[in-house]
Amino acid sequence: MKPLHKIIVNKDTSFNPIWIMRQAGRYLPEFREIRKENPNFINLCLNENLSSEITLQPLKRFDLDAAIIFSDILMLPFGLGQKVEFEKNFGPKLGKLNLNEVSKIDDMDFVEKISPVYKAIKKVSLEVSANNKNTIGFVGAPWTLLVYIINQQSPKKSLRQDFFKDKIYIDKILTIIEKFLKVHIKNQIDSGADVIQIFDSWAGLLEEKNLPNYIYNPTLNLVNYIKSFNVPTICFPREIKNYKVFCDIVKPDAISIDYNVDPKKILKDIKIPIQGGLDPKILLTDKGTLKKEASKYLDIFKDHPYIFNLGHGVLPDTDPDMFDYLVKMVKNY
Ligand code: CP3
Repeated sequence: MKPLHKIIVNKDTSFNPIWIMRQAGRYLPEFREIRKENPNFINLCLNENLSSEITLQPLKRFDLDAAIIFSDILMLPFGLGQKVEFEKNFGPKLGKLNLNEVSKIDDMDFVEKISPVYKAIKKVSLEVSANNKNTIGFVGAPWTLLVYIINQQSPKKSLRQDFFKDKIYIDKILTIIEKFLKVHIKNQIDSGADVIQIFDSWAGLLEEKNLPNYIYNPTLNLVNYIKSFNVPTICFPREIKNYKVFCDIVKPDAISIDYNVDPKKILKDIKIPIQGGLDPKILLTDKGTLKKEASKYLDIFKDHPYIFNLGHGVLPDTDPDMFDYLVKMVKNY
């Protein structure tokens, strides 16, 4: 059995596997090297040789337990024909989504447009499975994708006042997102993804009254869909106010927590396997502090099935040597 399955399926508490969100990325000089030659980020994600190479870069350096495929949650709107660009020091910039155009797109068009992502998963999973490691596929949650599709860029600290103005339009887009998320998930699983993580990066922006419509119901649908393939789902509803209620309703196989969550409280509240939590900024301090802070999570979760990870993605300024120290420390704990 692969390490993440041991924790999630068998509820093993005898060890803590480790992988890190954004482990394939800008803190690695070998990634920056490739990135320099490939100014178009989407094209890089669509180059299966390079994207699989980038996926494997962190596993060559560190003893990680899983590969997460080098792609982006915004490949979904891209596959639907929305313009998606990444501007340096700004982040994603999207065009307008044309509902008329989108309604003409069928599953085959979508899959064809982003097929290199699936080819990369196939390559990576063959390689890492041979070493008994997991291959993590992922999607953005319906809510977070809706935010990007409508807002056309990362939201700042809150939603635009008029975000929910045209509810009919929003609900139509949400239905389309849900449909193609299923297509995207199925193709990742068919290509070898053996765990799916759902990133709901903007879950914290919603008021409680909107959670059932935009987070609980659509995410529950997806989780149930993934369960039908017998593949475990990890949900990451970042900064949602109540993780317990989320878990009670959505019932993911494991829950990834952000760095504002009190690990002792969550241990009392939640029975399912837990992942993550450590503030990525701790990796910018020193080894003593890193050891102390990481040990806190390992100690608190020592009798609970726990996958080591951060409370959000690893920061670009992280020293790979600190990353190495963390992986070794978790492995030797
Ligand atoms: O290693 C991995 O974790 C796999 C690859 C991965 C990327 N994006 C690559 C990437 C994953 C899992 C994502 C998910 C993603 N993308 C999320 C959810 C997680 C989160 O951070 O909250 C979100 C919200 C996005 C959208 C996105 N993509 C943003 C906001 C940005 C720009 C700012 C940033 O954080 O880098 C991206 C670009 C992006 N996606 C990069 C990478 C490596 C940087 C590209 C570059 O080199 O400029």
